[in-house]
Amino acid sequence: MTPEEFRKHGHAVVDWIADYRAKVAERPVMAQTAPGDIKARLPQSPPGQPEPFEAVLADLDTIVMPGLSHWQSPAFFGYFPCNGTLGSVLGDYVSTGLGVLGLAWQSSPALTEVEEVATDWLRQMVGLSDPWQGVIQDTASTSTLLALICARERATNYGLGRGGLQAEPHALVVYTSAYSHSSVDKAALLAGFGRENIRHIACDGAYAMRADALATAIVDDRAAGRVPCAVVATTGTTTTTALDPVRAIADVLAGTTIWLHVDAAMAGSAMVLPECRWMWDGIEAADSLVLNPHKWLGAAFDCTTYFVRDPEHLVRVMSTNPSYLQSSADGRVKNYRDWGIPLGRRFRALKLWFLIREQGVSGLQARLRRDLENARWLAGQVSAAPGWRVLAPVPLQTLCVRHEPPGLSPEAMDRHTQAWCDRLNRSGQAYLTPATLDGRWMVRVSIGSEHTERADVERLWAAMQHEVTR
Ligand SMILES: Cc1ncc(COP(=O)(O)O)c(C=O)c1O
Repeated sequence: MTPEEFRKHGHAVVDWIADYRAKVAERPVMAQTAPGDIKARLPQSPPGQPEPFEAVLADLDTIVMPGLSHWQSPAFFGYFPCNGTLGSVLGDYVSTGLGVLGLAWQSSPALTEVEEVATDWLRQMVGLSDPWQGVIQDTASTSTLLALICARERATNYGLGRGGLQAEPHALVVYTSAYSHSSVDKAALLAGFGRENIRHIACDGAYAMRADALATAIVDDRAAGRVPCAVVATTGTTTTTALDPVRAIADVLAGTTIWLHVDAAMAGSAMVLPECRWMWDGIEAADSLVLNPHKWLGAAFDCTTYFVRDPEHLVRVMSTNPSYLQSSADGRVKNYRDWGIPLGRRFRALKLWFLIREQGVSGLQARLRRDLENARWLAGQVSAAPGWRVLAPVPLQTLCVRHEPPGLSPEAMDRHTQAWCDRLNRSGQAYLTPATLDGRWMVRVSIGSEHTERADVERLWAAMQHEVTR
């Protein structure tokens, strides 16, 4: 494709996306296809000859679109908000169009320096102190893996340079809450801790980690000759947006070398609001934290920020520094390849930089406040409605709800819950995620899609009330 052909087709693609976004509310939110439907409509072998670009675009409409669930729909209340604001989408385009790679500062200096500035803007926006430094990763899962590898290396005094974990005389232990995200267990397993050395600490009535239970678990492990290595606390758990008490946890760890990592993948965006910062009170005592601007904040996926207090430690753990990547500038610049796992890095900072500039801090704050207010409104409606219950505190934008008709056994209630949620999702009017809490099914309502207004939440509530009676 020549640049002139690109200009023509590129405009058509931008128009196509603009039309999609303008009319996404008219589409059924959940994909209406069965497994294999889309694959069956695609040729099994690649085209031998070039195809007209128009044919590719046409297949987007006829084959791909029916197989999509629409995360940008104002009636999307599933999983978590993953807002790709259009300003940020343009940043992503530019990144891909430039096609530059950050193997080292010198391989594209602006790639590194815009990332330094954009992550530092975000640091200021969420109220973190100066010493924190950020780096963009693909996902929170990768960031938590980095955190646990760094914790492991601090606990073993850089055992990776000797026999690694295999040479350690005592098992290293990771602590997290029973409601932390599955990526925490995955990271602990991949970092070599072993399932036997992951402790799921009990939670209180609000589904937050109990600091006293953590303290007891640490004492027990020490008594058994194991080495407590890391705690992963969550600000805004996936199921209920519960808030682990970061300060109380930090107090338990005070005077030890146990690493504290805070997973604020979803809720971290809310810290742009000063009135929400109590939710991670004590954060300054953490060693690392992860916040996903690609969730509620509005950066086009994928854009995760990983912040650390001690970048030198991170670099010492991650750096391999082969001769072909060294340059005379190395002592004076950041080489982000040493701040994570991949060598090649996209210019992801552009989509964060575009987002913050296009919306301004006040624009981002206004949208987050709108969503919090909508969640409070819905919580009030559900709590006041006979037969309905809000099952967990609603500090943010997620509600856990259940419709509980009298006289149903727990198993029948589970079937009722899954059935009405499934009917609602299949109807295409809205998209909700069923999940279990305390071993029983309930429905999560996650508010915060970019274009979700009060009227959309009102329509959702009406549809929920309708579906439970069918
Ligand atoms: C609290 C929390 N942590 C981690 C994750 C995983 O995020 P990612 O997909 O960026 O790895 C999620 C997302 O679902 C989450 O809600």
